[in-house]
Amino acid sequence: MKFFIDTANLDEIREANDLGILDGVTTNPSLMAKEGITGQDNIIQHYIDICQIVDGPVSAEVIATDFDGIVREGKELAALHKNIVVKVPMIGEGIKAIKHFSSNGIKTNCTLVFSPGQALLAAKSGATYISPFLGRLDDISTNGLDLIAQIRLIYNNYTFDTEILAASVRHPMHIINCAEIGSDVCTAPLKAIKALLNHPLTDSGLEKFLADYAKGNV
Ligand code: E4P
Repeated sequence: MKFFIDTANLDEIREANDLGILDGVTTNPSLMAKEGITGQDNIIQHYIDICQIVDGPVSAEVIATDFDGIVREGKELAALHKNIVVKVPMIGEGIKAIKHFSSNGIKTNCTLVFSPGQALLAAKSGATYISPFLGRLDDISTNGLDLIAQIRLIYNNYTFDTEILAASVRHPMHIINCAEIGSDVCTAPLKAIKALLNHPLTDSGLEKFLADYAKGNV
């Protein structure tokens, strides 16, 4: 499973990248706003900065919701760097635009996917990635992981190249469960990724190894 980091915070992106396990980055307008990145010029520069840190796909989201606007914005974003993936909302105009992009060699991430039917349409339109939002489904008492499993089953039945990019991940168990289901990618906040490092037996075991070494090497 590929690991993407779900943030627009450059320090967090650097920290995850330095771990050596980072495959890509996802952002969205809310994550940009959280970092105080506003205004189109600053947003564009921020995407370029992210691409200079991570050598992997970087999702950049369009704001337009009509076909012509999505295509115009998407082309501008894709021209910024070879690793930019144009993030397009799961709406009719978005699906049309994804079809256009996939026919013209531009990579896409279909976002705001909440149902297997949406995932099927996105795959048929040629999306490079689809982003099912599992945490937001959990938030409304619906099992988000069930959606990832349904999409995995549907995609396995056919020859879709579309990769499942599990999004709206909130904690380390989401990441582990996505790996069990066979999600192609999981995008998560740095905190959830780093939580995978932790086990109390690792800490106590290491403490004892170092103490025993010290006893024999005083
Ligand atoms: C990433 O592609 C999504 O935009 C993001 O994971 C959404 O996460 P949230 O539901 O925590 O806002």
